[in-house]
Amino acid sequence: VAQLNTLAQAAGKKYFGTATDNPELSNTSYVAQLRNTADFHQLTPANSMKWDATEPSRGIFTFQGGDQIVSLAELNGQLVRGLYQARFFLIKSLGWFTQVTTVSGTINSLTGSPLAALTMQPSCPLLKPIVVLSSVITAEKFVGLPCTLLSWDVINEPFNDDGTFRESVFFSTTGTSYITTALRAARAADSQAKLYINDFNIEGRGPKSTAMAQLVKQLQADRVPIDGIGIQGHLIVGEVPPTFAQNLQDLASLGVEVAITELDIRMTLPATPELLAQQKADYETVIAACKAVDGCVGVTLWDWTDKFSWVPGAFAGEGVACPWDENFVRKPAFQGIVIGW
Ligand code: XIL
Repeated sequence: VAQLNTLAQAAGKKYFGTATDNPELSNTSYVAQLRNTADFHQLTPANSMKWDATEPSRGIFTFQGGDQIVSLAELNGQLVRGLYQARFFLIKSLGWFTQVTTVSGTINSLTGSPLAALTMQPSCPLLKPIVVLSSVITAEKFVGLPCTLLSWDVINEPFNDDGTFRESVFFSTTGTSYITTALRAARAADSQAKLYINDFNIEGRGPKSTAMAQLVKQLQADRVPIDGIGIQGHLIVGEVPPTFAQNLQDLASLGVEVAITELDIRMTLPATPELLAQQKADYETVIAACKAVDGCVGVTLWDWTDKFSWVPGAFAGEGVACPWDENFVRKPAFQGIVIGW
């Protein structure tokens, strides 16, 4: 059987990988394939590094979920893309600072205010960025993790589809400065990892992709650390944008990496042989586009099996978006990836 990471690396890419989630790790057949580095040389924690997982209630931090996935990746010799997603969460209490300091025990000082980044351990950071944004605080802190993460999605989904900025609590409170603050804090915390901004519906040319390019240009002009653009790639069978490859090249031409970070290609159920064949062709198109663009460093599936795909839970009546079916059997889509590489 062909091996997806082996093929990706032969094409000059850093990795082929997959998202995974902690509850899935109790399924031994699932884990056996997850650990197959010939297919997956990279893992992304689908949920357990997000803020609602790491601070389930105010001041109560739980990093075990993220730790578990990083440890598993280390054991396997796999790279990790971390999620550090500024969205949804508002913390108002300044008392929280004390609690953070207590939890980490390593924060040196809180400089400036009201917009400041906490000073992080200078050595290979066992701490991840903690960013203080006015009354909004976005925090991601992983104690005890190695600094071997390949990259961080520092900012997730900053744009609306028309290219305007999304009205998140971060944007409404700070304008776009939360983006620069978060990126700088991430760099201060981890000088090695590649720092990304990640979004969906930027797969093809259009206002949202143009807005992303504009943002990256502005960040570069302002000397804000930005290393990559993550293109999520939650696609629909038969609807891969025709400008996909050109758009990838457009974004890579800005001088940053691009990566397909959350690939799945869903369909309206029930699946038919025709739809599965189109899905195969669509996976091939996406992979071939990444292959053709030097700046595209890798592709990550948003999980590899239909058994654990987020799609049915998020899109009513849709599903079977992954290259392996719910019984862990390879689908035509798997062959599409093989052909694409
Ligand atoms: C999804 C997870 O897969 C689900 O388990 C969770 O319920 C919601 O989030 N874009 C992203 C990812 O950036 O973080 C999302 O992950 C999928 C869409």
